[in-house]
Amino acid sequence: QWTTASIVDEQVTRIREQVGEGRAICGLSGGVDSAVAAALVQRAIGDRLTCVFVDHGLLRAGERTQVERDFVAATGVNLVTVDARERFLGALAGVSDPEQKRKIIGREFIRVFEQAAQDLQDKEQYDFLVQGTLYPDVVESGGGAGTANIKSHHNVGGLPEDLQFTLVEPLRALFKDEVRRVGLELGLPETIVHRQPFPGPGLGIRIIGEVTAERLEILRQADAIAREELTSAGLDRDIWQCPVVLLADVRSVGVQGDGRTYGHPVVLRPVSSEDAMTADWTRLPYDVLERISTRITNEVADVNRVVLDVTSKPPGTIEWE
Ligand code: XMP
Repeated sequence: QWTTASIVDEQVTRIREQVGEGRAICGLSGGVDSAVAAALVQRAIGDRLTCVFVDHGLLRAGERTQVERDFVAATGVNLVTVDARERFLGALAGVSDPEQKRKIIGREFIRVFEQAAQDLQDKEQYDFLVQGTLYPDVVESGGGAGTANIKSHHNVGGLPEDLQFTLVEPLRALFKDEVRRVGLELGLPETIVHRQPFPGPGLGIRIIGEVTAERLEILRQADAIAREELTSAGLDRDIWQCPVVLLADVRSVGVQGDGRTYGHPVVLRPVSSEDAMTADWTRLPYDVLERISTRITNEVADVNRVVLDVTSKPPGTIEWE
């Protein structure tokens, strides 16, 4: 498609103009946005790009491997992985407020980058930071004309004043479907290009309440089961995304085997959307819902109830926080 190819050409030209002979760092989140942004920048400036992957401990099962193995195999890009799991858990300890969590995660993310950059700069100078910011992120964070600030987005809001990089945002004018086409144009594998969106703050904003290592593990297991079942039902491409949300501060009584349980509910939030600006709840087949529910309650300790979110956006946002 000439339009997609021309988007690539235009962005590559712009990136070259902006970065010149400089070097750039790109944070990979595991999602399509940062992967496509990185692939575009690599096409523009080659090995003057270094990708940094922060394992903030808020990832889903298997995501670190997907970045370290699949993305590197597809692009041959230089990758540095930073294990910051303890740091993020520490910063989030005792925090339940959604905006607080988002700000903390965004702030720590940038600081970890700065540290990673500092380490890299001991060898070479890096002046640019690549971010996979999309047009809807810009609008929802109040960057567009006449829009209210709904949520502070991880990759737009909350940047510290002392940010020492110039931002490179090659996807800033694009919607999600355009980003996917650009990714295919750049030769990224389908598994990366068609990965469902996952928010920058990760599972941190899918635990309603304080984020702890134990709660993350519970949510990771429930989320992996939901994704497995949606994929094996062939539905993963039909839905936009399906957040699984742990109501960590809520308990309800249940019965399992011959015992009373007092566990947590998880919420399934399957949505259909074109660009995440609006969304409809997806009418998943009952048998698929049943398999997900049965497996989660059987296999995940401490979860004894699965509930379905049947709210459109608006009025509900896609994520619960
Ligand atoms: P909401 O919850 O605002 O989400 O309806 C819209 C889309 O954005 C994703 N999302 C984020 N993505 N950083 C991101 O990169 C964030 O902080 C963030 N918050 C939400 C969400 O998963 C959905 O696809």
